[in-house]
Amino acid sequence: MSLGIALVGVGAFGRFCLDAFSKMPELRIVAVCDIDLPRAEEMAKLYGAAAYSSLETLLKNPDVAIVALNTPPYLHAKQGEMILEAGKHLFCEKPLALTMADAETLVALAESKSLLLTVNYVMRHNPLWEQVATFRETEVFGKLRHMNLANHAAGLELPDSHWFWDKTKSGGIWIEHGVHFFDAFAMVSGEAGEIMGSQSFQDARGYLDRVEAIARYGDTAAHFYHAFDQSSNSEQTIATISFEKAYISLHEWIPTELTIVSSIPHSDFHLNFRGQRQLKQFGDGRVALSLKLADKSLVYQEAIQAGMRDFIQSIENPQRPLIVQSRFALESLQMAIAAENPRF
Ligand SMILES: NC(=O)c1ccc[n+]([C@@H]2O[C@H](COP(=O)([O-])OP(=O)(O)OC[C@H]3O[C@@H](n4cnc5c(N)ncnc54)[C@H](O)[C@@H]3O)[C@@H](O)[C@H]2O)c1
Repeated sequence: MSLGIALVGVGAFGRFCLDAFSKMPELRIVAVCDIDLPRAEEMAKLYGAAAYSSLETLLKNPDVAIVALNTPPYLHAKQGEMILEAGKHLFCEKPLALTMADAETLVALAESKSLLLTVNYVMRHNPLWEQVATFRETEVFGKLRHMNLANHAAGLELPDSHWFWDKTKSGGIWIEHGVHFFDAFAMVSGEAGEIMGSQSFQDARGYLDRVEAIARYGDTAAHFYHAFDQSSNSEQTIATISFEKAYISLHEWIPTELTIVSSIPHSDFHLNFRGQRQLKQFGDGRVALSLKLADKSLVYQEAIQAGMRDFIQSIENPQRPLIVQSRFALESLQMAIAAENPRF
């Protein structure tokens, strides 16, 4: 039997998520809510759902079992609380909240009501990030040594008035966006991370548009750089993950390509990968292997669907641990808050 889902906040990403959820037989889109009622009505009509402009009224709908919360970050704490208080499971967009106190309140509330709560951390369901985590677990390339992220994002396309630039609404770059990668590196390393220092840079408007931090995940060094100073035709994201015997790079912010350069024989890689592969042998014995997934949009949607499928399976079997556990949402938020408030 399918579960009824409501989506709150049908903006840019909410619409993308609705499209992903509409293709899942496990779900029925029963309600759509936005403070902008015509926007909610347009989407409700598309999916044969009820439209609401008030979350409070939506929460009285008994057909709603899960609420996907896609409003801007500063609303997650208050609206998440209302959703859990109404007895609905919460599939929350990142970040879970802007403060640790608010995030912990949500996690405790879900636990006390035996409801499930997760954050839509799509990297945990990306086959390439999963593959890198498997390399660390099997130690096929030896120990993990260093993780680096250089994320040059299309911030030039966000209007001056967008909530993203208002720290009271977004929490800032680390909290709004950085949490994805703090969590991805936690998945790769199998450790919770700790921020050791950070700095930020302003653009000509005085907006903070670039941030940088160093961190450690147990015995592994990490470095993060996020810049929102590019356009969609010039943006670029590269994560490089170094092991003792291999250098791995992941391309694009939702990675669609992974390259491994290693000195160990290719037959020892033990890949569990279904996409395209391309192998190159160097004269000095090194091997370069490229793994490619289909288009970014499809990879992105499949990750959202995998996160929701995981959520539904744990609703149906509460003993089953979620892949994106609430502690991962808390640990990554903790790092983001530390990076927003540098020690030196
Ligand atoms: N997981 C991911 O990969 C990913 C990607 C993009 C965005 N996000 C997150 O999704 C969330 C939304 O981002 P977006 O880019 O879609 O924002 P957006 O501004 O495009 O959309 C937000 C929507 O919420 C509506 N809204 C505002 N206040 C409301 C209220 N009180 N009640 C109901 N609706 C209200 C707005 O009218 C708007 O339609 C953010 O938390 C963002 O960080 C996550």
